Amino acid sequence: MTDSGATSQSVGTTQVVGNLGVLTIDYPPVNALSVHTRIALDSGFRQFAADPQVKAIVLICAGRTFIAGADISEFGKALEGPNLQDVFDSIEGGTKPVIAAIHGTALGGGYELALICHHRIAVPSAKVGLPEVALGLLPGAGGTQRLPRIVGVPAALDLITGGAPVPAPKALELGMIDALADEGKLREDAIAFAGRIVSEGGPLLRVRDRQDKVEPYRGKSEIYAEYLKKNARAFRGFKAPFNIVKAIEAAAELPFEQGMERERELFGELIASTESAAQRYYFFAEREGAKVPDLPRDVQALPIRSVGVIGAGTMGGGITMNFLNAGLPVTLVEMNQAALDRGLGVIRRNYEASAAKGRMTSERVEQRMALITPALGLEALATADLVIEAVFEEIGVKQDIFAKLDGIAKPGAILASNTSFLDLDAIAAATTRPESVIGLHFFSPANVMRLLEIVRGAKTADAVLATALKLAKTIAKVPVVSRVGHGFIANRVMSPRSQQAMELVLQGPTPQDIDRALYDYGFAMGPFAMADLVGLDVIGRGSNERTLSGDLVKLGRLGQKQGGGFYDYDEKRQPSPSPVAAQVIADFAAARGVANTGPVSAEAIVARLLYPVVNEGAKVLEEGIAIRASDIDVACILGYNWPVYTGGPMFWADTVGLTRVVDGLRAMGIEPAALLVEKAASGGSFTRN
Ligand code: 3HC
Repeated sequence: MTDSGATSQSVGTTQVVGNLGVLTIDYPPVNALSVHTRIALDSGFRQFAADPQVKAIVLICAGRTFIAGADISEFGKALEGPNLQDVFDSIEGGTKPVIAAIHGTALGGGYELALICHHRIAVPSAKVGLPEVALGLLPGAGGTQRLPRIVGVPAALDLITGGAPVPAPKALELGMIDALADEGKLREDAIAFAGRIVSEGGPLLRVRDRQDKVEPYRGKSEIYAEYLKKNARAFRGFKAPFNIVKAIEAAAELPFEQGMERERELFGELIASTESAAQRYYFFAEREGAKVPDLPRDVQALPIRSVGVIGAGTMGGGITMNFLNAGLPVTLVEMNQAALDRGLGVIRRNYEASAAKGRMTSERVEQRMALITPALGLEALATADLVIEAVFEEIGVKQDIFAKLDGIAKPGAILASNTSFLDLDAIAAATTRPESVIGLHFFSPANVMRLLEIVRGAKTADAVLATALKLAKTIAKVPVVSRVGHGFIANRVMSPRSQQAMELVLQGPTPQDIDRALYDYGFAMGPFAMADLVGLDVIGRGSNERTLSGDLVKLGRLGQKQGGGFYDYDEKRQPSPSPVAAQVIADFAAARGVANTGPVSAEAIVARLLYPVVNEGAKVLEEGIAIRASDIDVACILGYNWPVYTGGPMFWADTVGLTRVVDGLRAMGIEPAALLVEKAASGGSFTRN
């Protein structure tokens, strides 16, 4: 976050209204608890404490939100100004009731501050919560000790290990806030609320003093063990959820001060961990992706009010749903009625499945479906502001569509291709307006996966790129900008992982050895389980070479869907090692003249499969395909579920040490990229400043 030159004076404004003090914090963009904010809070509260006219204090924020948390950019740096705990202690130690008036998001340290206040009032659109888990942390300013005292242990476990912000009406039900203000009237309503507190004159209500919600759980350690067991899959590989559970147990078991001490200890462990460093890096990395250094700031995005999608298959359907979800009408084009009906049916079923799970109403399902105009010819796209082509991955087919589209789409319309490997410039060349052409590469399932690779062609206009970046935000995707190159970023960088797996399996390690090593590293599944899931016939498609997958397919082994693949499957699709696959592998190795050199350690398997990914990442950077190393990490984390607590391949490589990666690659007979060699030699890094 950029420091806007704020001073502590300009961040905090105090005003006395009748017998109330109103402290307004204004530290854009999100009122983070930076040094300036801490000083402003400290001096504001001191001033009101000393003012005999002030009987109660309202804490409110200017701008788009209440305090959204500690200033993450200060973590790991030397502390400046008062520490958060001292500021909080002095507020809580005061003798005048304090009312937190919340709009936007009161998150992390921001909500912890609200918990120190004696009362909390919020507008209905506000959200409150403790999202520290996403940064690999726990709420370190009393959140783990105070929230259970309000909502009880089970709810606190879910709220803090889940981290999701809670909408104000729900927060009111849970007791996380005490009252709702009218939307747009927060200040008035908070002042009126404070006035009532003063006139009622009851004792100061401090969350820390409450016992009623934690008492019933005292001495019940089985709750925590069961909770961890139930969530084993979701928590795997992360550190923070385990420390959060311990901290909440401390809230139930220990007196408040001792609980706070335990929280500090557990927070300290997390903040020093590589996992948290990786997750904090990732927080900023996600936001960097939208920044393109050579895109002039004053470029205006074009308005997008209607969208056309060509192809109602899996990809086209998923892409369409993104726009429907954002309320944008979509003209969905297919070649024949049957394909169109099939595509529409899948979209409807997806929405109905969400409705069945209670995630949306059936009325909403109909509203979304009503935004689709089905059509059978490209002519229907004449008025669309943006057209996205999602047809068969074949350059000739795509060029043909773009040439036709060129004659149909209105001037200025953006023509996008969802190609995942092809040369976007060659596609653009099929039109008379290559400046309007861009790649919008969605990942499957396109309605779920958050990554959007925006492919900037050689001639793509700045306004078109700016529009794509803005659009990503509209449809809740995380953009990463790529130049044109085979496979762009994620697909290209990740492809060595499966290539290496297919070679390594010929040398001794079994598919299950390799899959287990990658699973333990943090991937949801290894390359062989993944190949079986996708379908071995799909993987080998388009290649005439003899491959391992191809040999399995010849035996009718297509993967999970038919005959098994690298594994055998029972009727519940549970895998077991396959003697047939083992024989196919041995035969293939013999045909290739590859010797079996025996088992390999998990660590060596990980290096063998993932160092080449790092190497490819270095090449993508070197060639200028990716703007920055963190974009590669974001692409792999969001596009391939690379475990976020490793920070992605480039952050991980820096953790391992670049010299080790270079040596490892050479030992495998792979020549490391020049950039990697240079950084290793100079003690440089991809992701650490
Ligand atoms: N510290 C520093 N910078 C922050 C920040 C924070 N806590 N939260 C947001 N920012 C920055 C972003 O990096 C971004 O900067 P940029 O414009 O230079 O890229 C800018 O503020 C705006 O953020 P978004 O683009 O994310 O804006 P949105 O409106 O989409 O979202 C938000 C706003 C919901 C507040 C979102 O930014 C968010 O979730 N922030 C993080 C909240 C959080 O995790 N808080 C806990 C912090 S840890 C903590 O409090 C520890 C405590 O327990 C001791």
